[in-house]
Amino acid sequence: MVRVYLHEVTKIFGKNVVALNKVELEVRSGEFMVVMGPSGHGKTTLLRIVAGLEEPTEGEVWIGDTLVASPRKGIFIPPRDRNVGMVFQNWALYPHMKVFDNIAFPLRIKRLPRNEIEKRVKEIAEVLGIAETLDRYPRQLSGGQQQRVAIARALVKEPQVLLMDEPFSNLDARIRVMARAFVKDIQRKLGITTILVTHDPADALTLADRIAVLRRGSIQQIGLPNEIYDKPVNVFVANFIGDINLFNGLIIGKDNEVYFDGGDVKVQLPRSINVRGNEDVILGIRPEDVILSKEVINNNDLIYVGKGIVEISEFAGGKFNVMVKLQSTEVKVVSSTSFGLGEPVHMYFNIHKIKIFDKQTEKLLYG
Ligand SMILES: Nc1ncnc2c1ncn2[C@@H]1O[C@H](COP(=O)(O)OP(=O)(O)OP(=O)(O)O)[C@@H](O)[C@H]1O
Ligand SMILES: [Mg+2]
Repeated sequence: MVRVYLHEVTKIFGKNVVALNKVELEVRSGEFMVVMGPSGHGKTTLLRIVAGLEEPTEGEVWIGDTLVASPRKGIFIPPRDRNVGMVFQNWALYPHMKVFDNIAFPLRIKRLPRNEIEKRVKEIAEVLGIAETLDRYPRQLSGGQQQRVAIARALVKEPQVLLMDEPFSNLDARIRVMARAFVKDIQRKLGITTILVTHDPADALTLADRIAVLRRGSIQQIGLPNEIYDKPVNVFVANFIGDINLFNGLIIGKDNEVYFDGGDVKVQLPRSINVRGNEDVILGIRPEDVILSKEVINNNDLIYVGKGIVEISEFAGGKFNVMVKLQSTEVKVVSSTSFGLGEPVHMYFNIHKIKIFDKQTEKLLYG
């Protein structure tokens, strides 16, 4: 397998649409990299540049030891010579071709002998569990099966790199879970270097060896899923990878102690916190790091926030999504126990999970 390396890749469409801005991304050999970002922030463009369907405006693209694109050096290797398989955003199956012919298509372009094509198509269809559908048209398949055909077509030419553009977006929630497990399994079995792009944090957290977060064409952070989740570099990443409560307030130093004062939400912070006093900050805490209790708890890992009233408590399969009102501030909580509506509760934050961001730059200061 090979590594894929984008070095300071910029893509500008027309005069001033900056789709990618100096993207620096190394995908290790055999790695499953998930690139996430909101709609229109450059995900598809990044994949198309690796595949050779777009030329970068600046920078270099490497696949293994081969420089496949460098405008400065006048290098551009076309898609057919890159040995990359791509699963497109809408799968793009040919509706008038049977499944067999859809999968065989890239091999026919390569002019492989007929018996070799038949052998490879049958093999990959077997691996993906769609062998019995080869004689059908795409419209005669379920969504999950159509997706497998698209993956089979990308894999049949035995590419060195697999690119997947939102491969689960057309699937309903239950099938999506199975499809994810399936893609992860195939990737692991084949050990193929993979880049998958998505706007869905669940895809990223469940599939990725590492995650890269894109915002308006710029990489914000690259890291292990738990790093991105627990140590997001800024508010954007924190918010994008999962639910988080954010409170505006001030850091206050008093009598050798450090406090966060956000009006309704006032908490004492660890002294180790390296933030100057009177600073405008944003405190972030994920719903599962907020603890509710009917009685007072004494625990060094928890800091007291105050007494609130339960406004909403919804069962969400093994846990409860709770909304608590602290005076006029609403706090989202994920709790393992249920609470009655209107019930008064004591609220605590897990001291190890508090994040403090700079108000101006929104960068992580502590956490
Ligand atoms: N061929 C093109 N010509 C002009 N602008 C383009 C072209 N392709 C993409 N763009 C612009 O580049 C930016 C990034 O687009 P891209 O398709 O990479 O986003 P995306 O992250 O894949 O979004 P989505 O999640 O909606 O698929 C957008 O502003 C888009 O309008
Ligand atoms: Mg896209």
